[in-house]
Amino acid sequence: GRAIHFHETLGSTNELAFRLAHDGAEHGEVVVTEQQTAGKGRRGRVWVSPPGLNLYFSAILRPELPPQRAPELTLVAAVALTEVLREAGGEAFIKWPNDVQIDGRKVAGILTELSAEPDRVHFVVLGVGVNLNAQPEHFPEDLRDTATSLAMVRGQRVPRALLAASLWNRLEEWLDLHQEVGFAAVRQRWKELSSTLGQDVRVRTDRREFRGRAEDIDASGALLVRTEDGSVERVLSGDVERLR
Ligand code: BTN
Repeated sequence: GRAIHFHETLGSTNELAFRLAHDGAEHGEVVVTEQQTAGKGRRGRVWVSPPGLNLYFSAILRPELPPQRAPELTLVAAVALTEVLREAGGEAFIKWPNDVQIDGRKVAGILTELSAEPDRVHFVVLGVGVNLNAQPEHFPEDLRDTATSLAMVRGQRVPRALLAASLWNRLEEWLDLHQEVGFAAVRQRWKELSSTLGQDVRVRTDRREFRGRAEDIDASGALLVRTEDGSVERVLSGDVERLR
């Protein structure tokens, strides 16, 4: 079978997976660790990664996909992850682009990293962090109101190995479908699982900040936001925050 690289401590599973892939690791090899000392979040943020409680998972993918379509894989992963969390007893929803939330609080995040030439993807590292068995006291104070864990909502511990295995299986199913049928099937399911569409949101990107109503995602996964003046903005990367 495929290799699972398990470690007690790593800086970041994404970093090790990136190195292994660079050195020739195969599609489907997975890196898992007990704790990360330099867990990475999106947009340069830190992913708090205490020992023993949570899942820190990175999969190496070698998709047959032009680099421009690589961002679709993050949405593929969000769909697979959300389905697995629902099966494990959490009412999970996707917050665009790839946060997974329960009760409006973040339970999991995805960080996709790419090695590519203009016309060819070498490999993709798909990193997933899931707050599994953490309790409120394990979260830094500034995250206590905005983060949750599967165990907190279920009232029961969740075996990590089981979740990791289910995640890879479900991921593989969705990756196959994506490869064979294309993004349309993924987009449809993403929309069903998302809590973002239909909401009034504030959008922050590297370059700007604006408000509007999140209406749809387009054929490449970009968020379409209708602003107050009626125009539709296409957001490829950034953060959205719900306005109440
Ligand atoms: C985010 O929502 O900002 C993305 C968080 C991704 C965290 C995971 S944990 C496993 C993998 N290794 C990392 O350093 N980051 C990802």
